[in-house]
Amino acid sequence: MTTHSSDQPISGHSVAVVILAAGKGTRMKSDLHKVLHPIAGRPMLLHLVASTAALRPAKTVVVTGAGREQVEAAVAPLGIATALQAEQLGTGHAVAQARAALAGFEGDVLILYGDVPLVTAATMQRMIARLRGDDSPAVVVLGFRPANPGAYGRVIADAAGRMDRIVEYKDASEAERAVTLCNSGLMAVRSADLFALLDRLGNDNAAGEYYLTDIVGLAGAAGRSSAVIETGADEVAGVNSRGELAGVEAAWQAMRRAQAMADGVTLIAPDTVWFAHDTVLGRDVVVEPNVVFGAGVHVADGATIHAFSHVEGATIGKGATVGPFARLRPGADLHADAKVGNFVEVKKAVIGEGAKVSHLTYIGDADIGAGANIGAGTITCNYDGYFKYRTVVGEGAFIGSNSALVAPVNIGAGAIVAAGSVVTADVEADALALVRPEQIAKPGWAARFRERMLARKRA
Ligand code: UD1
Ligand code: CA
Repeated sequence: MTTHSSDQPISGHSVAVVILAAGKGTRMKSDLHKVLHPIAGRPMLLHLVASTAALRPAKTVVVTGAGREQVEAAVAPLGIATALQAEQLGTGHAVAQARAALAGFEGDVLILYGDVPLVTAATMQRMIARLRGDDSPAVVVLGFRPANPGAYGRVIADAAGRMDRIVEYKDASEAERAVTLCNSGLMAVRSADLFALLDRLGNDNAAGEYYLTDIVGLAGAAGRSSAVIETGADEVAGVNSRGELAGVEAAWQAMRRAQAMADGVTLIAPDTVWFAHDTVLGRDVVVEPNVVFGAGVHVADGATIHAFSHVEGATIGKGATVGPFARLRPGADLHADAKVGNFVEVKKAVIGEGAKVSHLTYIGDADIGAGANIGAGTITCNYDGYFKYRTVVGEGAFIGSNSALVAPVNIGAGAIVAAGSVVTADVEADALALVRPEQIAKPGWAARFRERMLARKRA
């Protein structure tokens, strides 16, 4: 067999992507469309779209049906076209609905399933490269060998991957059901071949559907060979239920953890750390057990995130430390060597270089200067029930424990706020602000008090 070179450049305007997403997803029992359920915080459909970016597709078409408004709203901002399949008459019928959207397109069409989200760009490229092989297969199918082949379509092929046809489980003989090579559903076909073959599909089969898979047999009958290439079962895992969604999430997380460690991140207990689709981690970052990353987190080199912290929409500078038990919310921006300690929540706030917020504190809508020290129990009172206000703490300022900083308020550089203060007015640089009743001392009072009370009790 002639081989193709897989580093063959895939030119910018020759691949179109068709993603099938018309299925109801009944088994999800959800008001949210199946392909919009998130994996690592991003709708599974958008994982697929992101992976196709490497092919620089000339056009992407999502075939919608049930719940189409939700899918359209999700892809419209990305400039992706949709095609409506009003009735679900089968996968072949679904692909045929993309014909108008692909009018005039003459390149290669990659067919994906919206509910099979983990397919990698490398595998997509392998499919397109195989389609462009010297033997010009009519159809390239992505096959896999699941532990339990169940009701998947079976790929009838020889050892070299030359494919005769695909037979659906419902239509298969006992001998065909014994075949272990299964159809993932994903295919690559030149556009001219694809729509000519789809025109010839019938629905005379056990399901009464227009099977996309029948294009392989139809091509064969017309003297065109087709090819199957294989990939691992995890990569083509589909999502039909909440259980499978959790399984795909687990597979994605396992890959991401392995990638993080390969990139030079220490994960002490990898299985307990949960990443988002866009988490960015520097070298020599240490992530302790049970840390959860929401979307939009950047962690610079050498930072440490201690156990049981929840971090979302935050930037963590070089050498900074977070937690244990810290919560960084969107807009938290920790500069180098800053420290956010246990039971501290930070939202929309800069924590300057080397500044410390070590215990039991809420910092919201604030700028904390470099080297400042925020004492235990400090609260920025940023909200009056209607509007939010900013707190500014200058460089090297010291905020005593259990202070309330009532925003808007400015604490000057180097100022000291006495413990327990409720600060409602600006504090000058290097000043002391003491906002609490002065202490009254009465020598011997406690002893006299006890004598009096004991005497009364004895009486
Ligand atoms: C299909 C394949 C089967 C393969 C299996 C892999 C056919 C005939 N069979 O099975 O060989 O092993 O996928 O999972 O292609 N869809 C539509 N419109 C329709 C029907 C389906 O958009 O009218 C979409 C679904 O939303 C889903 C995908 O196509 O994303 C596959 O549909 P599904 O019903 O799960 O495929 P099967 O027929 O079970
Ligand atoms: Ca299925």
